[in-house]
Amino acid sequence: MRKTLVAANWKMHGTKAFAVELLEKLNSGLESGKCSAQVVICPPYPYLGVVADKMGQAELGAQNLSEQPSGAYTGEVSAEMLLDCGARYAIIGHSERRSLYGEGNELVAAKYAAAKAAGLIPILCVGESLEEREAGKTLQIVAEQIQAVIALGLPETWQNAVVAYEPVWAIGTGKTATPEQAQEVHQFIRQQLGEAGGATQILYGGSVKAANAEELFAKPDIDGALVGGASLKADEFTKICCAAN
Ligand code: PGA
Repeated sequence: MRKTLVAANWKMHGTKAFAVELLEKLNSGLESGKCSAQVVICPPYPYLGVVADKMGQAELGAQNLSEQPSGAYTGEVSAEMLLDCGARYAIIGHSERRSLYGEGNELVAAKYAAAKAAGLIPILCVGESLEEREAGKTLQIVAEQIQAVIALGLPETWQNAVVAYEPVWAIGTGKTATPEQAQEVHQFIRQQLGEAGGATQILYGGSVKAANAEELFAKPDIDGALVGGASLKADEFTKICCAAN
């Protein structure tokens, strides 16, 4: 039985004071809601330490990492450093990294390998653009994104790993994939993962909110959510986490 996982992607939002306040509200909300989901908080890098000190039942994640283990890579952060700061998870290949920072499938796969090698749990983001969906290429695009990781031939590729299906057209737009649309792709992703995929949590991301979380989580291959905008509101995010109860 796969446990529901809800991950918060704060992106480049907030201040230190905002992070502390949000976390305090979230901790008490999760506790009073007897929320059974696994919760992961991915703050901006500079606030990892602040958040690590106040985690409550949630776990810490990063929004990105370097594919390099260490060295002269100005501005980069390694998987070891993230672990050292208390992180257990790292989002890899978010569509904003792919589209705004030119991260292609190969670089994303290298980052995935770096996370695994260090013992961080990668949250691998995959998903198609609107243009690709309308051209009937959704499954092909997602398969290419997954295959780039499989091609590395890592040991136990999909163990201690999470995949997030995030259709690009649904991120930050208020347009959520219907539970049926999401389930179709989630089922396909699980097939792509092979035998180990039965135990891998596959999250849905893209305009998840309290009002749609429950029907998404009810689908057999949707094991939780990666939440952007709604994760910045303590009440709303708590409701999403507790929708899994
Ligand atoms: P959103 O973002 O929930 O604001 O659509 C999701 C994400 O980018 O991970």
